Amino acid sequence: MKPIAVRAQIKESATLAMNARAKRIAASGEGARVISLSVGEPDYPPPPQVAELTTAFIGEKKGRLVYTAGHGIPELRRTIAAKVRERTGVVYDPEKEIIVTVGGKHGLAGAVLALVNPGDRVLIPSPYWLSYPPMAVFAGGEPVIIDCLDTGFKLTVDKLRAAAHPRNVALFINSPSNPTGAVYTREELVALGEEAARQDLWIISDEIYDRLLYDGAEFTSIPALPGMRERTLLANGVSKTYSMTGWRIGYVCGPEPVLKAMKTLQSHMTSNPCAAAQQAALAALSLSEDELMAHLGPHLESLRRRRALALEHLGRLPGLGVSVPAGAFYIVVDVRPFLGTPLGASGEPVKDDEELAFRLLDDEHVAVAALTPFGAPGFLRLSFAVPDADLVEGIARLARFLRLA
Ligand SMILES: Cc1ncc(COP(=O)(O)O)c(C=O)c1O
Repeated sequence: MKPIAVRAQIKESATLAMNARAKRIAASGEGARVISLSVGEPDYPPPPQVAELTTAFIGEKKGRLVYTAGHGIPELRRTIAAKVRERTGVVYDPEKEIIVTVGGKHGLAGAVLALVNPGDRVLIPSPYWLSYPPMAVFAGGEPVIIDCLDTGFKLTVDKLRAAAHPRNVALFINSPSNPTGAVYTREELVALGEEAARQDLWIISDEIYDRLLYDGAEFTSIPALPGMRERTLLANGVSKTYSMTGWRIGYVCGPEPVLKAMKTLQSHMTSNPCAAAQQAALAALSLSEDELMAHLGPHLESLRRRRALALEHLGRLPGLGVSVPAGAFYIVVDVRPFLGTPLGASGEPVKDDEELAFRLLDDEHVAVAALTPFGAPGFLRLSFAVPDADLVEGIARLARFLRLA
């Protein structure tokens, strides 16, 4: 039997594997309740219009949903264009420069497939969202990791310049970032954009956390910066802001030649995103800013409060480095000082963050994301999009495991 292709021999998404193990333990009913601080989704409901309008649509059609345009229904693309214009000032042609995708992840993967030839280098500042390197690999490209642990988790112009190479084709920027919550300032992005232009790079701007900001941090959309629209693919979706992860709708906006290639690829891979889900996204994205904020405001406030609560409790743990996120809903903690030391009830040491996360789950029933798969060995990511009691109890169990309590 011939072996499977090399590009398919990558590891399963570590966060999904962790969630599966946490669910297995929870379902077994053994021991204490599992607390999941590893989730990548908000815990608030989507706007009520989503369920109302989508069920009405399905009822009206008597369940007979048919294929739509491969790049999404025109109303949704027009609504995306209007929303993006309102938010960023950038104008995209809904027919030629926008594609609706099966979640933000699919949009990013499509962008990489459209841009990257075999052997091309894809620049990825680390820590990064764990799916970026596999996306480059799938396209036959080479993920090139730029370590940004010593620059506040952000790429700098010097680092981008040092990575210059004739085979560089694309650069991922994710602001606000998963896992770190780092948010680039406008000035930083202008400078990076200039260097990207000097190297003639495409920028894949993952803007999925654009509304989740703290402490006065401001979101900057890269295509809105001078000269950037023509070399940027803006990727976003309804998963995070609208809390619609299961609907699987994302979108990408960018220059026509790339979008045309993405549409062709999509037409052969998925046809169109689910017709009902497109209606749901249409209901969400059609909300005016006032309507959206009336729904979202209290939930954003609650995330702010829980971020402060988590930082307060983590801040009490000596020896644990804690980074303060400016966006998204994750906190990164540095567990390097605890590797190789006695941990948990057994006192058995662990060698790395992944082993630590699994032991923490087995011993204390707390799920967190280990950051080796995100390019940051020795770090963990904790989500604060969970109920207060879980946050406090989860951190208390982490402290006990680390022998700090
Ligand atoms: C940084 C980042 N980009 C993109 C996505 C994709 O979101 P989805 O495919 O659920 O729309 C996620 C989801 O976790 C993310 O964290």
